Amino acid sequence: VIRLLKWLGLRRSQSTTPQFEQFRPAIETIEGWLPIEQAEWLFEQACAVPDGGRIVEIGSYQGRSTTALAFACLGTLKRVFAIDLWQGMYADVADIPEVHQVFQEGFFGVWERNIRMNNLYPYVIPLAGRSCEIARIWRAPIHMAFVDGSHAFEDVVQDFREFFPHVVRGGLMAFHDVDPAWNGAWRAWHEHIAHHLIRTGSFTTIAYGYKP
Ligand SMILES: C[S@@+](CC[C@H](N)C(=O)[O-])C[C@H]1O[C@@H](n2cnc3c(N)ncnc32)[C@H](O)[C@@H]1O
Repeated sequence: VIRLLKWLGLRRSQSTTPQFEQFRPAIETIEGWLPIEQAEWLFEQACAVPDGGRIVEIGSYQGRSTTALAFACLGTLKRVFAIDLWQGMYADVADIPEVHQVFQEGFFGVWERNIRMNNLYPYVIPLAGRSCEIARIWRAPIHMAFVDGSHAFEDVVQDFREFFPHVVRGGLMAFHDVDPAWNGAWRAWHEHIAHHLIRTGSFTTIAYGYKP
């Protein structure tokens, strides 16, 4: 009976594990600052989250990383909690013509359209607001966190401090733009965050580690 159950379990996981390649074109059409190989990395990490697990994303913008995470939840009880102010980053991107269109439509509207277009709404819960304010009312265990909100040193440290207590033991925390070009995220990771995590590593500009 045990061998039969194992065989059935194996068959189930083989037939239901989604493959990134089938989602790549959809993710590539969404504007954002996430290189596609990082989207693939996020997707693979989200696939490894146990069923029923919660994935928290800070900084969703137009939904590029949200979509990569949510595709990994298809057919499961995993959910992505997408946190953003959805007020835009106009000062940073004012010289990019496409952003003017987004401003007219409204940032949340664009994010929502990208999620709906890919039939991912059942897997994503948007939480509009400042990440530190949402952290204060957050109560549930987190199995994976992707931090890509404000890149200011104090904000990245605060995002870590506020969400770390909710992350389960062995849960993954990943930070975007840990690169000398982004001094705030770089310093936050090296001076503070990395010391609190184990099995730390990096994939391109994503630095990550696991809660001890
Ligand atoms: C670099 S973009 C995120 C890019 C996105 N992950 C992607 O794949 O394209 C940063 C986002 O963080 C949001 N943000 C900045 N500060 C925030 C804060 N304190 N709380 C919540 N969201 C914030 C901005 O509104 C912006 O959409």
